[in-house]
Amino acid sequence: MDNKKIVLSGIRPTGQLHLGNYLGALSNFVKMQNEGLYDSYYFIADLHALTTNPDPKELHTNVRHILAEYLAAGLDPEKSTIFVQSDIPEVSEMYLLLNMHVGIGELMRTAAFKDKARKALGITAPNQGDDDEDVAKEIIGASTNKRVNAGLLTYPTLMAVDILIQRADFVPVGKDQEQHLELTRRFARRFNSFYKTEYFKEPQNFNFGSAPVKVPGLDGSGKMGKSEGNCIYLRDDDKTISKKVMRAVTDNGPQEPNSPRPDVIENLFTFLRIVSTPDTYQYFDEKWNDCTLRYGDLKKQIAADLCAVVAPIREKIEYYSANTELLDQIAREGAEVARESARATLDEVRRIIGFRV
Ligand code: TYM
Repeated sequence: MDNKKIVLSGIRPTGQLHLGNYLGALSNFVKMQNEGLYDSYYFIADLHALTTNPDPKELHTNVRHILAEYLAAGLDPEKSTIFVQSDIPEVSEMYLLLNMHVGIGELMRTAAFKDKARKALGITAPNQGDDDEDVAKEIIGASTNKRVNAGLLTYPTLMAVDILIQRADFVPVGKDQEQHLELTRRFARRFNSFYKTEYFKEPQNFNFGSAPVKVPGLDGSGKMGKSEGNCIYLRDDDKTISKKVMRAVTDNGPQEPNSPRPDVIENLFTFLRIVSTPDTYQYFDEKWNDCTLRYGDLKKQIAADLCAVVAPIREKIEYYSANTELLDQIAREGAEVARESARATLDEVRRIIGFRV
């Protein structure tokens, strides 16, 4: 057995991967894999996808899509264990066990839960600073016939299990998943302290020394996301990408030298920071500061730099998508490896809990 640190992360198969997924997570999976310093586990979180009740055919197709996109982006089954969450039944058993140590209240206070529950119930988010007891009242009051499923509430337990069952040290994820990671650490500590053990480690996010990434939307909103409908997809062709970037929301341009940038403009600079060279960033930053910036030029630059990232991946996605036998084989072999390590953890957890093993 080697003593390499363990890396694990996953993505839900809810559609095609977008630049938020790639720049916030997948590109780091690939970099970490290629450093060769870690035992890597990368999976497709299809149990998590069930929280939004997908159509079975669509779910099946989406799992294959993500597999193809993982490989196209550079994940390599020779270097990483690539698997599908639902192929690991040990995860479901441990999810039940860990739930016994998780509070309903702390789950209900999770930001992602409140967001998704509001969407499911059709209620709008309160203004910042307002109390947000609306979700709890609606759920318990049941004044509508809409329902928030229990899987959505216990989403963080399942995510903690994914991580803890593989005994991961590092979990490369985007900024929006930080709260879930914090809960994972809390659940690990709680389990350890209840059973007077030090069995679980506390996993950390990882982004090569930088802060976790939040890729903004091009519609002026804070985050690129599927449900926000503002995504650039890894499957988009150059023309589509350029069109989306050229349509990005802007304003009247810089009015005074060295003024702070409004959010919608800062979003564009965030793209430059993530995908362009430091020189390019500096060039446009200076143009902003001396009020000579033309948004058309800025957008053209961003579009070109995004296309350079996406084009080589897009071509490979087509290749892997057509090769379903290969995809199935990779998932099968990955599951064998991931099950073995999951089984070892589950056996130990059952023993710690007091079950006969
Ligand atoms: P999911 O499927 O919502 O997103 C997958 C990854 O993409 C990142 N991401 C972003 N990063 C930056 N900017 C954005 N606009 C953006 N949009 C998405 C997410 O941060 C994430 O890293 N709960 C997880 C899946 C999961 C998981 C796990 C992850 C299940 N179990 C165990 C790690 C470990 C999720 O829903 O990700």
